[in-house]
Amino acid sequence: MIELSAAQVAAATGGRLHADPDVTVTGAVIIDSRQAAPGALFVALPGERVDGHDFAARAVAAGATLVLAARELDGLPTVVVDDPQEALGELARYVLATVREGGDGWPKVVGVTGSVGKTTTKDLLGQLLTPEVSGEDAIIVPTGSFNNEIGLPLTVLRVTEQTRYLIAEMGADRIGNIAYLTRIAPPNVGVVLAVGVAHVGHFGSVEAIAKTKAEMVSGVVDGGTVVLNADDLRVAAMAGQAAPGTTLQTFGTIPAADVRAEDITVDATGRAAFTLRIAPSGDGEQRADVALQLVGPHHVSNALAAATVALRLGVSLPDVAQRLTEATARSPHRMAVTERPDGVTVIDDAYNANPDSMKAALRTLAVMAGRTRRSVAVLGEMRELGEGARAAHDEIGRLVVRLNIKQLVVVGDGAYHIHEGAMQEGSWGSESIFVPDLAAARAMLDESLEPGDVVLVKSSLGSGLWELGDHLSMALTAKDNNK
Ligand SMILES: Nc1ncnc2c1ncn2[C@@H]1O[C@H](COP(=O)(O)OP(=O)(O)OP(=O)(O)O)[C@@H](O)[C@H]1O
Ligand SMILES: [Mg+2]
Repeated sequence: MIELSAAQVAAATGGRLHADPDVTVTGAVIIDSRQAAPGALFVALPGERVDGHDFAARAVAAGATLVLAARELDGLPTVVVDDPQEALGELARYVLATVREGGDGWPKVVGVTGSVGKTTTKDLLGQLLTPEVSGEDAIIVPTGSFNNEIGLPLTVLRVTEQTRYLIAEMGADRIGNIAYLTRIAPPNVGVVLAVGVAHVGHFGSVEAIAKTKAEMVSGVVDGGTVVLNADDLRVAAMAGQAAPGTTLQTFGTIPAADVRAEDITVDATGRAAFTLRIAPSGDGEQRADVALQLVGPHHVSNALAAATVALRLGVSLPDVAQRLTEATARSPHRMAVTERPDGVTVIDDAYNANPDSMKAALRTLAVMAGRTRRSVAVLGEMRELGEGARAAHDEIGRLVVRLNIKQLVVVGDGAYHIHEGAMQEGSWGSESIFVPDLAAARAMLDESLEPGDVVLVKSSLGSGLWELGDHLSMALTAKDNNK
């Protein structure tokens, strides 16, 4: 982060200073005392299980020079605010605005939102833009999601005078979330990927989800760029909400899209190749070939989104195509494919799940297994789906059967209706198996996986199937395990 005095932190957050005003923060802003290093600013947040205030002394002992807290802390240099989380956002907003003011508008912020594909698009865009810049902090692309009212400001606070690009994932589970995040980091380029039913339990309806994602469109800076998915009707409809003076760019497979993928093919490893085409304002079209390393044809859409932003920021079409072709998955448990020495292929997509990503992953499994290999889907609960949860799980079970997945293993009570849907759709015998928990799933899979099998593991984060993903990815053969 840029260097800040305690007085500046107090002014930016509207807090009361209980420290020497000249104390400076020279290190990172942290919320976990274990990450404390000399010069850090420790923000005391109330957690679900622990209260950050109890760890402030430890952070200071490890070198933190200042604490942002909801109350005075005996003998510790503190800025006291009503709500440390809000204050974290205020501080991030101040730091970014200050750096931009002194840096002639730099860094440029790209905000990415949508029901699926945010992290993938962010990571792809990072790989498209990184070769364009050099030096420490020149580009900030956090690993993982960091997309909420805590993760986003922490990411923004990494900005320094050297930063040219900040690629910020912005997630939402309630109306107003994206507006809040874009106020902290107003994007020069705002991207909306898709409107699905993720978190619909919180939102209440798909319309409310669309409204929230549209906050990205109204959140871009004056004269900024709005990038919309032309293949998603609800996203395409947001074009009307772009402020006058904003540039609109669309991506997709339909001919009207500004940046499009044509002639998409998918190979037996589940990877897509396509022709990337753009229609420049001058003469004729330009095209370049892309062959993705990311697994799953659904990533074509994310690749197009990243390409659209990179082209807008000045990267040439040949460079975009080449870098997309070289790009790899950067955040774990997302369509991570492991070829085990025993001939079992594991697709670990257990980072999270909602109906859209579940369907995409199952289709990829079917493609990868083809006609010759046995496909196995190990599925857990998709959470936060509210009233529609039962129907959504049922539908996934039916899709498993329609895709002719050979073995379905449904893990845990919350996922039961996947099993039921499969049975209703015509699964018989042991084609669909319900097991109560992870341990049972693990025992069953260690026993039954055979060389040549392709196994997909997927559920919402909270259902914990990623543990199984790790286990299966690292396991040798069932027989070896039993030795
Ligand atoms: N365009 C897409 N259509 C369907 N599924 C997708 C798409 N893009 C990504 N996915 C799948 O969605 C899951 C999550 O991907 P990713 O982490 O990129 O999304 P995210 O939007 O960042 O999710 P989160 O809200 O959990 O942070 C993965 O299983 C991925 O394969
Ligand atoms: Mg994410």
